[in-house]
Parts: sequence; C-alpha cells; structure tokens
Amino acid sequence: MKLRIRTIRTQTIRLALVLLTIGMVTARAQFPFQQQKPKGQWMDKTLSPDQRADLVIAQMTLDEKVSLLHGGGWAELFGLFTPGGNAPATKSLGNAGYIPGIPRLGIPDLQMADAAVGVTHGSVFGRYCTALPSGVSEASTWDLALAREYGALIGRELRDQGYTMSLGGGIDLTREPRNGRIFEYKGEDPILAGKMVGAEMRALQEQGVVGDLKHYAMNDQENGRNYVNIKIDRRAMRESDLLAFEIGVKDSGVGAVMCSYNLVNGDYACENDYLLNTALKKDFGFQGFVISDWGATHSVAKAALAGLDMEMPGNDHFGEPLKKAVESGEVPASRLNDMVHRILRSEFAVGLFDNPPDRKSVDPMAGFEVAQRVAEQGTVLLKNADAQLPLDASRIRSIAVIGSHADVGVLSGGGSAQVDAAGGNAVPPRAGLSPMEQVFGNPVWHHSSPLKAIRAKAPNAKVEFNEGTDTAAAASLAHASDIAIVFVSQHASEGLDVPSLALPQNQDALVSAVAAANPHTIVVLETGGPVTMPWVDHVGAVLESWYPGIRGAQALANILFGEVNPSGKLPLTFPKSEADLPRPELAHQPAGRPEDMKTLFPGVPYKENTRQFDLAYDEGLKVGYKWYDAEGKGPLFAFGHGRSYTTYAYSDLKLTPGQSPAVTFTVKNTGARAGADTAQVYATLPTAAGEPFQRLVAWEKVQLGPGESKTVTAKLDPHYLSIFHDDHDAWELVPGDYQVQVGGSSRDTPLHGTLSIK
Ligand code: BGC
Repeated sequence: MKLRIRTIRTQTIRLALVLLTIGMVTARAQFPFQQQKPKGQWMDKTLSPDQRADLVIAQMTLDEKVSLLHGGGWAELFGLFTPGGNAPATKSLGNAGYIPGIPRLGIPDLQMADAAVGVTHGSVFGRYCTALPSGVSEASTWDLALAREYGALIGRELRDQGYTMSLGGGIDLTREPRNGRIFEYKGEDPILAGKMVGAEMRALQEQGVVGDLKHYAMNDQENGRNYVNIKIDRRAMRESDLLAFEIGVKDSGVGAVMCSYNLVNGDYACENDYLLNTALKKDFGFQGFVISDWGATHSVAKAALAGLDMEMPGNDHFGEPLKKAVESGEVPASRLNDMVHRILRSEFAVGLFDNPPDRKSVDPMAGFEVAQRVAEQGTVLLKNADAQLPLDASRIRSIAVIGSHADVGVLSGGGSAQVDAAGGNAVPPRAGLSPMEQVFGNPVWHHSSPLKAIRAKAPNAKVEFNEGTDTAAAASLAHASDIAIVFVSQHASEGLDVPSLALPQNQDALVSAVAAANPHTIVVLETGGPVTMPWVDHVGAVLESWYPGIRGAQALANILFGEVNPSGKLPLTFPKSEADLPRPELAHQPAGRPEDMKTLFPGVPYKENTRQFDLAYDEGLKVGYKWYDAEGKGPLFAFGHGRSYTTYAYSDLKLTPGQSPAVTFTVKNTGARAGADTAQVYATLPTAAGEPFQRLVAWEKVQLGPGESKTVTAKLDPHYLSIFHDDHDAWELVPGDYQVQVGGSSRDTPLHGTLSIK
C-alpha cells in the first residue's frame, strides 16, 4: 500500500512539473479581461447551433482555429495562479482546464472544472461547492428525476462560479469491482448507467454549461490505465460499455465526450477510429467534440483523423504540429473545420454565446437539500434481520457509535473528482502533503458527523463514541450498550485501485468483535464500491451509504430512525468472494523493461516500468450480474437488491407484444409504512440470440402508501432488447420468444411470462 502511494506521489510530482510548463506556455490572454459583446450574424438565435458555428468558422484564421483545439490545465494546483498572489497573464479560473476564447468573434472561454460528484477545488478561491453523494449512490436511487436534480445542481454551481464546462459524467462499467473510480461511475449495467447519466447531463447542460461523458472507453481499472490494452470483441463492447455511452449521448445531447487513457484492441482510445469515428460519431450520432483525458493524446494526424477534436492539456500535438499537418494536407482542412465546428456547436447549443455565466454566490442550502435527498434515496439497506431497523428512540437507553471517524464526518472519494471539504478535511491529513497529494490517495472527510446526527435523533439515550482502533475497547462499549452502530469504510481514489474487496485496517475483525458483544449490531458501510463481508451472518443490519456527501450523516440518521424508508437498490453486484470474479486477481501492469513516458508527458524522463500490457475481457458482455447468472454463482447481494421497512408484492403480469412491446404488472405495499419500490423488468432473449442470461430492460420506481397497489406499465425499448450483430455491423431484434422476469431485484423476480416478438 505504502509503495503504491509512493508511486502515485512520484507520478504526481512529475505530472505537476509538466503541467506547470504547459500552463505557462498556454497562459496568454490578459487578466483582468473584459468580455466583448459578441457581434455577427451568428448571434441570430433563430439559426441552428450548426448554422451559427459555420458562420463563425467562415471568419476564422487558421491560427484561431488551432487555438481552440488545446489549452492549459490544473494551473492552480501548482501555484501558477494563486488568488491575490502571483496571478499570471491568464484569466483561467484555475481548475482542470482552460481554453481562451476569441474576443473579436465573441467566442467564449472554455473554463473546465472537474465536477463528477460536485464542483472541485472550491477551496483554492475560498468558495463553497456542494459535495454530493457519489455517482454510484446517485445510481442506487434508480430515479431519473433525482439524476436530473443532481446534474442541475452541478450545472448551477459551475455556472455560478463562472465555469463553462463540466468534466464529469463518468460511466465506465463496473467490470473490475476493485477499480478506484467506481464511486464516480454508475454501476455495472449499461442501460441503468446510460439512462442515469443521460438525465444528469441533459439537466446539467440546461444550466448553460457544456457537459461531458467519460472515460470513453473501457477505462475500467486504474492499475496501468495509461498502458493497458483492452482486448474485447465488437459485439461485447457494443452491448456493454459502449451501450452506456450510446444511451448517455442520445438521451442528453451532451456537448463533449472524453476519451480515456487506455488502448482498445491495439489503438489508444484517443486515436481509435472505431471508437471515435465509427461508434461514437457515426453510430451514436454524437454531434459534440471529443476531448482527450489529461495527457491521453498520443499523435497528431492519427488522432485527428480517428476523431479526436481537442487535446488537453498542452499543445504538443494539437498546437503547432496540427497546424503544420493541416498546411501539408496530412489533415484535411475540412477535418480541422469539423473539429472547430463541433466545439462551437456545443457552445451554441447550451447558450454560451447568448448567455455567458454571470457569477454569483453558490447557494449552499440548495446544495444541502439535494445532497441529502440523494443520500437518503441512494443508501441501500442490504440486510435487516428481524426488523432491527428502524430504531425506536423512545425505547433505546444507550447506543455505541463505533469506528470510521463517525464522530466527525463522512468519507469521500479521491482524485480529480475530489470535492473540497467545506471547512477543511474533518480528519486533518498528516502535515507536508502537497495540494495534489491532499486529494489523490489521501482520504477526505466531510464535516457531517454521524455521532451528532444520531444524538440529535435520540436525545434521551446515552450515545457514546469509540474510534474502533482498539477492537476490545470497541466490543466492551458495544456490550454495555443497547445498540451498536459500527461504521466501516474503504477509501478509493483515482490513480489506484483498492488492493482487495476486503475492508482494510482490521475492520472485519472490528465488526466481528462488536457483533459478538451485541446482538443488535448495525453496520454502516462507507465505500466506493462493493466489499466482502465475512461477518454478514452475525450482524443485525447492514446499510451501504457509499460516500454520502455533505449531508450524509443527516440522511443516515433519518434512515436509522425511520423518518426515511430506505429505497436504494444496488447498481452493482456484491460478490461473496474475489474468487467469483471474472478475474479473481486484479490485472496488474507487469514488471518489465522500462520505457519513458515520452508520448504521455513529453520532455519528462520517466524511469518506472511503463510497458503496455494486454487485458482480455474474456467475460465479454457478461458484466456484473450477467456474469454471475451465466456462471451460476450466487452473489452476496445481487444487482438490484435493496430492502425497505415495508414489503412489496407483485402480481398480474401482462405482456403486450408487437411494435411497441410493454410489460404491465401490479405492485402492492403489503406493510404498514409508506415506501418506494424500484420494480425491475429483465428479459432473457430467444435462444438464437446466444445470450442465455437475463438483462435489465426497464424499471419503474413506484411510491406506495401502506396497503396501496399500483398498476405499472413499462414500455420496452426495442433497442434494449436487441443484440449487436458483428457480421452485419448493426443492432438486430432477434425474432422469437423473450422470457420476461419482473420483481424487486435481479434475483427476486416473482413474475414470469413470455413475450413473442416477430
Ligand atoms: C482524469 C479525468 C479528469 C482530468 C482533469 C484526469 O486525470 O482521468 O477524469 O477530468 O484528469 O482533471
């Protein structure tokens, strides 16, 4: 672990030096800057974004065009732009990326901020930004309306701070559950992930900022992310990871897609003709621009011709070299115009020309409200033996709160998605970490204290805290209390994967000891993704709260004490053991001959092993539950699973065949509390499709009062029932009998029927 952190740190310092140089080279506009009122025919709002983009392009010089295709980035992290300090000649807002606009044409600046789970780096300018629950928590709500609120909030906070583009929208599927970035993403199912991110990005763009989906494609683990060559066949990728992007693009009209660091079938994702030109631009109809992940551009003509539109950060490829390639005809002028067109079109489409951001203070109260609601809906009650939850404060005399810094805060995910903790890290990091190190690999805790929130709910009970580092002391407090709530966590961050699915730092032993001391033990998990639970049979209840954001503790207390009835459902499988995974061992970059990182960060000698390595996705399209179903392996907690304080019954399945297939059924709340159930529809395709396992094809979240029934009709999108036919290079709906399963999780589908499609 230490070694891993040291490696990250060395990489980080090297990266810092390179980006410092890049930032200096690209810092060119004057500061402060007066926005000129855009003039020109392209300001006619009755024209389409495409027409308007072309009118601007007709006025542009070659240099101006090239200037829009690259920029600086991460400036503030390296002291390039310190507010009130040595501000260089740039008007960058100092986040991940900055591309100066062209004032004479009214082209706005692209001010890009990482914003996967909230706007990042607020503290550099002393600004508040809402730390939302993680992306996987959002996905656990299965609620498109809430996904829209999530996106709208991020869009608003970006805009209020003057940003014009978000770098968020991560949807790499959970193929590798040890991936350090699962917390940013939306689980293992392409349709769920695609629909959720589509709703989020549409709402984000409605706030007048350009959205982005990332990391395209199959950047499903951090280990060796710059060198791993993913080997996968087309059908498998089109029906899994790429389908998530396809749906996300189509549902949102997103302005940008970020290509990833890794290679796919031999070509880097950012110069991969199939991924960019064929799949994304031609087949998905993506009209926006492809932006490279930071440092993921590897060539000039190859990348430009394969469909990359923007290099970030730096100008090594898409600066002078691209200009020369256009002058020599290696890259046709028409392609250059297409690159610029895509960028301008995305800016017009979200209104950046007509309605540039008007900076104002961010509204923290609105942020709290949305963050809390997402956390309440996204928390998953995994187990609740003998209805141990909810707690009844009037009957409890004492509660032991144990572990995971639950006295001060809740954990968050690290890396470029790290949202700064309002008021600083609730668990101060050791001294001497650079700003970069404070967010990459170092756990950040938001000031939302579970201990305080629990005390507020049970004012008459004695609520004591034990930090959980001394197992015996924790068990003794648990033994002396009516109820023990033990918090366990696993930090995850961009740049490294978790070493295993086991909870780190002896926390499994802690839970076992507490459970042995108190039969009313409730476990609260704060993790980026799934973990194993050797103690699961010995505890009363288990809640997965993910990284629950700035109001995580309040949301959790509402669930513990029954003010909120949990309704979250897992967007990914929790395996029983790593032995059940398609790859029991995490694929590591092999030790071997050293190379330099020349292609990645030019000019910086890099002495560690950088050898490319192949990673075959032999499981193909069987990602997550499809793998477990096909292999006949039982999960610890299945995809779609999540309990409630009430119970639901399913009945009256009716299937409507034909051109617009639909599934109708009734869900009844059979308990005494109001609740919401996410009813899930799965289909197993006809034998001829060659996929003898089910896939999620639709779902409906149904709100039900005690005893209430509702009849639900879910339309089935024929695309989601189709297969990608390699030979025909097209999606096809295979005629035949579709087995339809309906219920509350992928492993609990009481309704079955056959839908015939001709
Ligand atoms: C990450 C991206 C991020 C970019 C800019 C990269 O390291 O992979 O997700 O948007 O940095 O911060």
